[in-house]
Amino acid sequence: MNGANERDRVIYLDNAATTFPKPPCVWEAMEKCFFQIGGNPGRSGHRLSYKAAAVLFDTRESLAKLFHIGSSERIAFTKNATEAINVALFGLLRPGDRVVTTAMEHNAVMRPLRHLERSKGVRIDVVPANAQGMVDLEAMARALKEKADLLVVNHASNVAGSLVDLVEVGSLARDAGVPLMVDAAQTAGCCPIDVEAMNISILAFTGHKGLLGPQGTGGLYVAPGLEPLPLIMGGTGSNSEREEQPRFWPDAHESGTPNVVGLAGLGAGVEYVMDKGIEAVRGHEERLFKRFWEGARGIPGLLLYGPSRWEERVAVVSVNLEGRDPARVGHRLDRDFGVMVRAGLHCAPSAHKFLGTFPTGTVRVAFGLFNTLDDVDIALEALEAIARG
Ligand SMILES: Cc1ncc(COP(=O)(O)O)c(C=O)c1O
Repeated sequence: MNGANERDRVIYLDNAATTFPKPPCVWEAMEKCFFQIGGNPGRSGHRLSYKAAAVLFDTRESLAKLFHIGSSERIAFTKNATEAINVALFGLLRPGDRVVTTAMEHNAVMRPLRHLERSKGVRIDVVPANAQGMVDLEAMARALKEKADLLVVNHASNVAGSLVDLVEVGSLARDAGVPLMVDAAQTAGCCPIDVEAMNISILAFTGHKGLLGPQGTGGLYVAPGLEPLPLIMGGTGSNSEREEQPRFWPDAHESGTPNVVGLAGLGAGVEYVMDKGIEAVRGHEERLFKRFWEGARGIPGLLLYGPSRWEERVAVVSVNLEGRDPARVGHRLDRDFGVMVRAGLHCAPSAHKFLGTFPTGTVRVAFGLFNTLDDVDIALEALEAIARG
């Protein structure tokens, strides 16, 4: 171990933070946009401005197809999932509203909610999870018996990898007459998402993880009938004679010049995922997960978190070596073996509390579309070597 080869090696297993690498079609689309298009969409009347607008249109259409969204104009682009979540929560919640959410939420949801609780008197009820990070859906059904204005659910935990069954949650929301908002940061591009079949009223997604786009891209879908107040107002290239913000989508939520180059890349990433097929993506990640889980169970002192059944999870796996500081383990994985993971707390303190890993956190191993079974084996060998020495 510790040879030059290991030090130069890049085994990237931090795909829950951002996916890497991206397929060549993503940067090719970005390069084409940068060098051949370059105009400002919706602003000017010339060819390059129209071409830039067409880039946005095509990406919106691809996303609508992927998520089964009837009208693509109800998707507004944002710079990431965090911004999309903030637009929805700040734009929709009013003083005295009641929100039901879960113990597995990321701080992208919990911080705006806690702020709204303090500043606007929004009531928040948090549905618990079990020690594997599975949200208690019976408790959710009970919480929805009292009048609620919004149900906010993380589709898959970025700590435990645990999935929420959106078909079941969607029907709970329908029965209770409550709009369902889904944080799909960890699942868009990796798991099937059908806003119609799952009764999703609000979908927040990021572009740089499973959708394989560049960082700085993401979006928000909101069903017709729900009209969040814009968080940011300004020039949209439309209704320019008026000083009031347009109310129609997507302009209401897309002020200022967008990240056209990034969104060209996102469109290519979405097309790549659709060409492969979500089931094939999931099948690949299942093989990686199962190899890792089986191998990890044989490493003395290695603790595994999250559900063991693939049907209940994604390929984001938290582990710990008994008695070891996860930050140190993560550092050694990188320094000595070229294995890149995330270690410590993962922006979801309550999830760590339910798993029993607060405050030191976990070593998070997150597989992606471009990982191989060899990558899994190298990670297992590295963890075994650290466990031994
Ligand atoms: C579950 C979840 N929600 C939201 C986010 C925020 O995503 P972004 O950093 O792209 O805004 C993340 C990022 O890791 C996440 O895992």
